[in-house]
Amino acid sequence: MRFSGPHSAKPLPFKMGVPAYDVFPAKLWSRMRSTAVRADALMYWNYSDPRGEQILREQIASHVALSRQIVCHPDQVFITGGYRQGLQLALTSLGARGGTAWVEEPGYPVGLRALELAGLTVSPVPVDDEGICVAQGIVSAPSAVVALVTPGQQAPTGVVMSAKRRSAILEWAIANDASIIEDDYLSELKLDGRAQPALASMNNGERVIYLGSFSKTISPALGLGFMVAPRSLVPGVLEATTMTAPAPNRTTQLALAEFISGGHYLRHLRKMKAVYSERRALLAREIRARGFDVEEAGLALILHLSNAVDDVALAQRGVESGIAPFPLSPYYHFSTTPPRGLLLGVSNVHGQNVDLAIGSLDRVLGGF
Ligand SMILES: Cc1ncc(COP(=O)(O)O)c(C=O)c1O
Repeated sequence: MRFSGPHSAKPLPFKMGVPAYDVFPAKLWSRMRSTAVRADALMYWNYSDPRGEQILREQIASHVALSRQIVCHPDQVFITGGYRQGLQLALTSLGARGGTAWVEEPGYPVGLRALELAGLTVSPVPVDDEGICVAQGIVSAPSAVVALVTPGQQAPTGVVMSAKRRSAILEWAIANDASIIEDDYLSELKLDGRAQPALASMNNGERVIYLGSFSKTISPALGLGFMVAPRSLVPGVLEATTMTAPAPNRTTQLALAEFISGGHYLRHLRKMKAVYSERRALLAREIRARGFDVEEAGLALILHLSNAVDDVALAQRGVESGIAPFPLSPYYHFSTTPPRGLLLGVSNVHGQNVDLAIGSLDRVLGGF
């Protein structure tokens, strides 16, 4: 499955993982960027802090305390280029190369491949309606060094990890000296009910490395995310980030610090949740009215297809027809008969293009 380009084009309807491009507060952001460019130009005398700008780390520590119930000191916060850089930094700091990692099945293909590229053996652990099946992980790979999980909203099913499973995975990690990497990419945009506190808020955050990303909440073009490291891992992360991956994009960091401290980030999140709820409901209604069976999964709808359908080829046909559904089967890495379907991102489907988008989908599906 291709994950590359085109990168600069406006997202097509149904594209996953991108924000609504028509709602981005471009004017406000450009003002904050201009201020940050001036401030940055006056600080061109030394290397910048490899952990990221102090002012942003402070803002993030306060923000996650409020929104994710994570109690941490700004020294535990490390700015990254996003989830992927955070994951590499976590694995390097843990010295995880050569070890085994639990991965969710189904799970985000990028996370799994990143683990393999970092020299880990991946061990699939099924996901059910309570999240990752910890007991099965313990049977199949009891001495894994890492578990990579999406407890807030499982990718791609949208399932929230139950309290029982949260306790179980923490117990396993403590007993086996393993680490949990919490990919919290979507919790702040949870559309149904309140988000559960982060896994990293339990047990003082020891054993859990929390990875946040601004890719979905603001834009992937920002190229910023962050890690909250357990206290015991801070010296290791500091060394790894200094030696291999210092925090990027200082100007953007400064602008982001102002965006958060001025209350704009919280307002933006509230607004995006309302926009996405409306768009998801609209798409679900319109698509069901045309006889398709879909279920809600975070910021996407899953359209299940028969196992005879090549969903990868179907998604490719979609792109040729001006829509960008993502196939479901690449999220299943270990099944010889993965479920087939299409993930339909809701962020860029609205009243003006919904008919056209569903019409194209209908034609693409009709050809199969
Ligand atoms: C499961 C999951 N984790 C994390 C991310 C964010 O990744 P990044 O911060 O590298 O853009 C995404 C984006 O689509 C995702 O789907």
